[in-house]
Amino acid sequence: MIPGMPGTTRDLLSDIETFLAEFGVSPTKFGLAAINDGHLVKNLRGGASVTLRTADKVRAYMAEQRSPSLAHDGLESAVPPRRLLLIIGGGIAAYKCLELIRRLRERQVMVRAVMTQAACQFITPLCVGALTGERVSNELFDLNQEHDIGHVRLAREAALIVVAPATADLLAKMAGGHADDLASAVLMATDKPVLVAPAMNPRMWLNPATQRNVALLHADGVHFVGPEVGEMAERGEAGLGRMAEVPQLLAAIEPLLREADGATDTPREWGAGAAPGLAMAGRRVLVTAGPTHEPIDPVRYIANRSSGKQGAAIAQHARALGAQVTLVLGPAHIPDPEGVEVVRVETAREMLAAAEAALPADVAIFAAAVADWRVASQAHDKIKKGGKALPRLELIENPDILKTIASARPGMRPPLVIGFAAETQNVLEYAKAKRRAKGADWIVANDVSPQTGIMGGDRNTVHLITAEGVESWPELDKDEVARRLMERAAERLAAITAAT
Ligand SMILES: Cc1cc2nc3c(=O)[nH]c(=O)nc-3n(C[C@H](O)[C@H](O)[C@H](O)COP(=O)(O)O)c2cc1C
Repeated sequence: MIPGMPGTTRDLLSDIETFLAEFGVSPTKFGLAAINDGHLVKNLRGGASVTLRTADKVRAYMAEQRSPSLAHDGLESAVPPRRLLLIIGGGIAAYKCLELIRRLRERQVMVRAVMTQAACQFITPLCVGALTGERVSNELFDLNQEHDIGHVRLAREAALIVVAPATADLLAKMAGGHADDLASAVLMATDKPVLVAPAMNPRMWLNPATQRNVALLHADGVHFVGPEVGEMAERGEAGLGRMAEVPQLLAAIEPLLREADGATDTPREWGAGAAPGLAMAGRRVLVTAGPTHEPIDPVRYIANRSSGKQGAAIAQHARALGAQVTLVLGPAHIPDPEGVEVVRVETAREMLAAAEAALPADVAIFAAAVADWRVASQAHDKIKKGGKALPRLELIENPDILKTIASARPGMRPPLVIGFAAETQNVLEYAKAKRRAKGADWIVANDVSPQTGIMGGDRNTVHLITAEGVESWPELDKDEVARRLMERAAERLAAITAAT
């Protein structure tokens, strides 16, 4: 503790340190959640003092987190407000549930899990139980369990039931009203909202029986998230049937949980931990993502390998933090992130127009891989082969979207402009120069050499370049990069607001 620190500050810091250890929360997250100031703990540790009003706010926040209504042992009471029952079906996508549970727990959602017998072939109840912190149920006729927590009680004590992966078999059981195992019996016994995340081979999904069951479930008011188009776990298989990714699952769960809480006004702590109010609530965020296609003639175009995944993940996380998000998306084969306004465009010029139309914004993140050049004059008809000479393409420069928005007039320039720099050599050097040349506040730089697998892949290794210096992050999946970046952006916005 700092010598000479005022009493209020010293006591508060000591309370916070105990809380951090108890809940395993990072100081940044705590700051964001407690008073929307990511620097709170750092400042206190550095010897800054705190006003009584702030101290009261932070203490109220900690008290709320420690309140018995959120504790594990409140089972006898009425339905705890944020308790979710996760029914895990027998598909390869069951592994995604482990990450889903972690993300839900981070958001103060209590998760209880039921696993089908088939699900236990893919992931273990031990692992699921360790993550939920609760016993995992999988037997309908387990006497102890029936005495302890039976299927009716499991159904009653959840505010929301999520079925993920929802196998073809589970969908059929639900549609047919079967109740011959714990999962289907719980689903029959519930009057709570049910969200299913189907996952199966595309032929199973398109099978008329599955489609009939899906139509029946829709008519019964069951909510769906996905499936999505993508590669299957089976080698060489792709198509519609892939389970939604964790950010999409979270985005679908959030409004249903909120509705179940009866909270129709300000959303409860979703995103940056459990704060009263979300770290980006009321903020407008603009994100560009994907490649652009620059036509040569009606059938040919210039393009690049960008998948749009990183930008879409950023949009999703900004949304999860409460922001109103516009995603300007080039031609990418990815689904629209839930709750985000998506404007699909083809060319760089269209992307610029859509980005400008989305202003004003508090943060603009330019993750799109915009084609630097387009052909000077697009051929009206398909260019034919077999002419005397090979066709010559004259290229001209496309507009620089990042630079244009970063130099927009005061009032239109977003207070935080973040560009991406995809390089294959001298990554840091080029990225630092790009930050200065474009007038961006931050640059997220990554090495997209083919051997990195970043272009089109699911992981990313980035360096965050700001006016203060360079921060190199470890290799992370794109979702985690997005989460960290948006949490940093929320902190930065809070600091900008506090300074103005
Ligand atoms: C390796 C493997 C992967 C499977 N993946 C899926 C899947 O993704 N979706 C699906 O509907 N069924 C899948 N199945 C079939 C289900 O596991 C099977 O229909 C099982 O009875 C489902 O049980 P449950 O619905 O009770 O979980 C898979 C089976 C195997 C052996």
